Amino acid sequence: MESVRDDPHEPYIILQFNPNNSEQTQVYAEIDKQSEVLRWMLPSTASTPKELDWLTRESYLDPENPRQLFPVADRRGNILGWVQYKPDEEQRIDDVKKQIDIPDDSIVLEISYAKLFGRSPDSLSGDDFQSHGKSIPMNGNPGVAINGVKQTLEILHEREALISKAANKPSRKIVVTAYTDLGNQASESVLRKNGFQPLPENIDYGGEANKAWVRFV
Ligand SMILES: CC(C)(COP(=O)(O)OP(=O)(O)OC[C@H]1O[C@@H](n2cnc3c(N)ncnc32)[C@H](O)[C@@H]1OP(=O)(O)O)[C@@H](O)C(=O)NCCC(=O)NCCS
Repeated sequence: MESVRDDPHEPYIILQFNPNNSEQTQVYAEIDKQSEVLRWMLPSTASTPKELDWLTRESYLDPENPRQLFPVADRRGNILGWVQYKPDEEQRIDDVKKQIDIPDDSIVLEISYAKLFGRSPDSLSGDDFQSHGKSIPMNGNPGVAINGVKQTLEILHEREALISKAANKPSRKIVVTAYTDLGNQASESVLRKNGFQPLPENIDYGGEANKAWVRFV
């Protein structure tokens, strides 16, 4: 299991997505077809096997469309959700910039995330995670995205620091955008708990009005 982050004080670990790992691609497909995901995320129908293959093979190494996908797993390696970052679309960045000042030299990444609902892997039942003297019940997988977003934002920050140090250049500014369907309270909670600011005006997202959020990393 290739973990990118395994902090003993966190309830979940972050993995590096591997498109050749069938468990990872299967859980991705399972999450993709859940009704709660289809309700709040585009496209609103489950992806075909061909589309899934394309989605899971997109890589951060692709110069045209770099995409970073991080599975979020419990401490036994069971994948419970994912967090993704990809470059935001120029057109939308322009709309966002009308409401908030984003320096021109920033890297603007759009975040999205989803979790596995409705069942917990059997291995988890009744076994809570202890952190700082607090017992976190694992059977409902609470806060998978809340915690996954927190840890992956830290990873982005650390990676940029490493890249800029190696290149002997100042770190580039990273701005993370998010777009939520109106009324998606669970997703809004994920963003608020991770320090994202909502913009005053909604943004067009694939023909739908969405609430826009920004976080400077
Ligand atoms: C958004 C999502 C990833 C959150 O998962 P999570 O981090 O594990 O979050 P939780 O399930 O612990 O819920 C987070 C908060 O939302 C609340 N919440 C969860 N489901 C809710 C619902 N259906 N209606 C209202 N509030 C809800 C929880 O009570 C919790 O509140 P709190 O922070 O005040 O305690 C998950 O709901 C999901 O996969 N949704 C579908 C995909 C999606 O909408 N992705 C975001 C696209 S922008």
